[in-house]
Amino acid sequence: GGQKVRIAMIGGGYVGLVSGACFAEFGINVSIVETNPERLSALRDGRIPIYEPGLDALVASNSQAGRLTFGDDIAQAVTGAEAVFIAVGTPPRNGDGAADLQYVHAAARQIAEALTGYAVIVTKSTVPVGTSRRIAEIIRQTRPDADFDVASNPEFLREGSAIGDFMRPDRVIIGLDQRLPERASRAEGVLRQVYRPLSVVEAPLLFTGLETAELTKYASNSFLAMKISFINEMADLCEKLGANVHDLARGMGMDKRIGRDFLQPGPGYGGSCFPKDTLALSRIAQEAHSACRLVETTVQVNEARKAGMAGRIAAACGGSVAGKTVGVLGLTFKPETDDMRESASIPILHRLAEAGATIRAYDPVGMAAAKPLLPQDVVYCTDALEVAEGADVLVVLTEWNMFRALSPAELAKRMRNGVIVDLRNIFDPTAMRAAGLTYESVGRP
Ligand code: NAD
Ligand code: UDX
Repeated sequence: GGQKVRIAMIGGGYVGLVSGACFAEFGINVSIVETNPERLSALRDGRIPIYEPGLDALVASNSQAGRLTFGDDIAQAVTGAEAVFIAVGTPPRNGDGAADLQYVHAAARQIAEALTGYAVIVTKSTVPVGTSRRIAEIIRQTRPDADFDVASNPEFLREGSAIGDFMRPDRVIIGLDQRLPERASRAEGVLRQVYRPLSVVEAPLLFTGLETAELTKYASNSFLAMKISFINEMADLCEKLGANVHDLARGMGMDKRIGRDFLQPGPGYGGSCFPKDTLALSRIAQEAHSACRLVETTVQVNEARKAGMAGRIAAACGGSVAGKTVGVLGLTFKPETDDMRESASIPILHRLAEAGATIRAYDPVGMAAAKPLLPQDVVYCTDALEVAEGADVLVVLTEWNMFRALSPAELAKRMRNGVIVDLRNIFDPTAMRAAGLTYESVGRP
């Protein structure tokens, strides 16, 4: 109908802010609730607290149009909202790797207190199986009179391409309590309306049970992580056997059953999702007296890979980095983000520093977030060429596009010893060697 949909988004981090702004762009009235005072005041002043391409403009235009508002008053946001999305963090709990649900549970209690009329409470955060039912219980306990349903709607966006991923998703998964078909169909109606604009891009909505939706998110992320660990092991094998991992990945990927995406070798996957969600799935399986041994192994393979990269850099320097100057290009876990969570650069730089290297580094947007996580004496440079100045070895850790354009001759001129360790395979080996550089990459002869 012509009536305007209203939603509340609890949490204005990566997921809450991106999905809130995208829903507003669809014409929905969105109130984002954020409790972190610095984040909130930034958002209210029109400053975006995270780096995500296109997000500034999207937030600005929808704020101006009055469809997107920010506040810390959950009652105000929830009043009149047909759907309330929970997009707060679920970091790994110290000790066992299980997801820490304290923020989700706190949000459920706050929502319960604020409910006025019927609303669907939608979990967008990545949460263990059973959490949506637990949220329903918390709300019922807090407000026995509340009229609501719960839904699980995991988010599949990637940082760096978050807006495009949200607006043109491969699918939208919506879990409902299928044991109560009448209630489920009422909630389904609300969520179909919220996601209606996606029918333009023919994004399928897949309705499942609550448990299945929750588990699908972990299964998808763990499968992708497994694909990356697989190609990383193939890259090692290619190096031993004189094969080329890119041709191998192309050859495998042409088989539609395998697919060509997520077969790019590198220093090991990082970010706020894969490391945490693989651990959480292993934990979920153990608690269910089952096992996901492939996922457990994926976690181990990836940890070992990140830890082993410093040794690889030392080997390229003739066995040790002691007394050597190591230049590092890229610090974030992937390009087009300022997110440093679980970046391979963290264990690699700490190991290099412990081994006695002098480290110079540059990242186009991640240096502020990187500083508290990296060794104290890292020298931060203003660009890539400054990093190369006097370096014995130059290591590519993140494949920012601007690094692809670097001239091999310019690098060779500035470096003390021209050794390049390209852990993202962004350079052409022939061009690097023609400039007199010693060039090593991943899985290429
Ligand atoms: P984040 O830490 O960037 O953002 C969470 C925000 O919620 C923070 O700003 C925090 O201050 C706020 N918050 C916490 N409790 C609150 C409350 N009670 N009321 C209002 N605000 C509150 O986290 P994120 O990266 O956006 O991730 C959120 C969830 O989405 C996680 O479960 C994550 O696994 C999942 N997820 C993340 C990504 C990603 O790429 N970052 C992708 C898909 C799914
Ligand atoms: C991931 C999922 O892709 C997304 O669907 C989910 O919602 C959140 O988690 P994100 O962590 O933002 O997204 O980035 P992604 O592009 O998946 O990369 C994760 C890590 O894997 C990065 O460190 C990246 O460098 C690495 N990676 C990715 C590889 O090493 N090789 C690849 O082929 C792909």
